[in-house]
Amino acid sequence: MDSIIVKGNGPVHGQIPIAGAKNAALTLMPAALLTDQPVTFTNVPRLSDIKTTNELLASLGTEVTVSDEGQTIKLHTPEMTSDVAHYDIVRKMRASILVLGPMIARNGVAAVSLPGGCAIGARPVDLHLRGLEALGAEFDLRDGYVHAKAPGGLKGAVYELPFASVGATENILMAATLAKGTTVLKNAAREPEIVDLADLLRSMGAKITGDGSPDITIEGVETLGGANHPVVTDRIELGTYMLAPLIAGGEVELLGGKRSLLEAFCQKLEEAGAEITETGAGLKVAAKNGRIHAVDVTTEPFPGFPTDLQAQMMALLATADGTSVLEEKIFENRFMHAPELIRMGAQIEVHGGTATVTGVDKLRGAPVMATDLRASVSLILAGMAAEGETIVSRVYHLDRGYEQVVRKFSGIGAIIERVTNT
Ligand code: EPZ
Repeated sequence: MDSIIVKGNGPVHGQIPIAGAKNAALTLMPAALLTDQPVTFTNVPRLSDIKTTNELLASLGTEVTVSDEGQTIKLHTPEMTSDVAHYDIVRKMRASILVLGPMIARNGVAAVSLPGGCAIGARPVDLHLRGLEALGAEFDLRDGYVHAKAPGGLKGAVYELPFASVGATENILMAATLAKGTTVLKNAAREPEIVDLADLLRSMGAKITGDGSPDITIEGVETLGGANHPVVTDRIELGTYMLAPLIAGGEVELLGGKRSLLEAFCQKLEEAGAEITETGAGLKVAAKNGRIHAVDVTTEPFPGFPTDLQAQMMALLATADGTSVLEEKIFENRFMHAPELIRMGAQIEVHGGTATVTGVDKLRGAPVMATDLRASVSLILAGMAAEGETIVSRVYHLDRGYEQVVRKFSGIGAIIERVTNT
């Protein structure tokens, strides 16, 4: 397995290009199953999760054409050749569940392996199933698979989600585009990735209004056509790299960054002492008079503070002036980076879903272990502010969500390299 070695090297300067959003691409690509016409995506991030999605769609009968060094992907499913999304692919990526809605809508039948939990929590799919049941799908859970059928096709319905689940919103939204009649999805997730999915579906001929608000209305259509769609900018990659000049000092410009993707996060950073300037090319970030002070953070569904930036924010607060309280309200076990940061000298106390972080002057480099995608990059950020060398192991987590991470951090002056362990 590979490791990443990072050495504290003082302030960083330069520009980082922000890629297309992983969490948009992972729902946009399954939407291509809804039509027998080709759908082409540009600005696709080059990540292992994208390769897994290509493999999953190909197993269902999609012709996958990758070009432009992986940034352009054409998906064409003239007909589905399988109704089964197998465990050996689904187990690699829980977002595989997002083929369920499109498969039922396209063919009226599907068998999708249950994704299984992951490091950050059980992550059931009950809300996906209840929403699709409201549209007329019938489910039978056996031998680790969700067996679905909709003999008479899907029918529009009014359904209120008990929780604004991102994935459930995406599955229900995609399925509803081909249901007979009108669907109103209430308490829907409002993330920019949902709006990007709705934009794609509209360009395929779907009739959708209200995306980005809690109530989405979808008027079912007979068929959907092909489209060309650029993947929206990755707000989590953006937020992650915005923290680099705040943790290490200096100033960095994030190319393609838009404040509107991360308003709550930007406000929290400004409260902590960051200066964020919108330039023609993106966002420029620096710490006002060089210091960052403690702030309290609670993760919430969009437009609140993103849970996917909680681990990275904890790394920043570990070296801020004062004591911060972080509340993780979305996942039940998303503080696994805390023990690793403590190994680097951070002062953190975790009680259930609350972490209290008392800033220290300097962290110390140490061997640490990545436990999940966002935790792994928070350890790199901490290593940039630490004295000495930090070795982050199990960096395969990183490859799922951050393209060219060593190159992007090196580009602003970080001393970072990737080594392959025997
Ligand atoms: C999406 O996951 C993202 N993944 C996650 O990003 C992100 O953290 C999450 O949304 C919240 O913003 C993708 O888009 C591929 P949820 P998703 O359904 O859809 C519970 C990353 O690092 N829940 O909003 O799984 C669930 O257990 C990843 O890029 C149910 O109980 O998130 C969790 O506690 C991590 N039943 C909470 O809701 C369900 O049926 C939020 O889940 C579905 C979810």
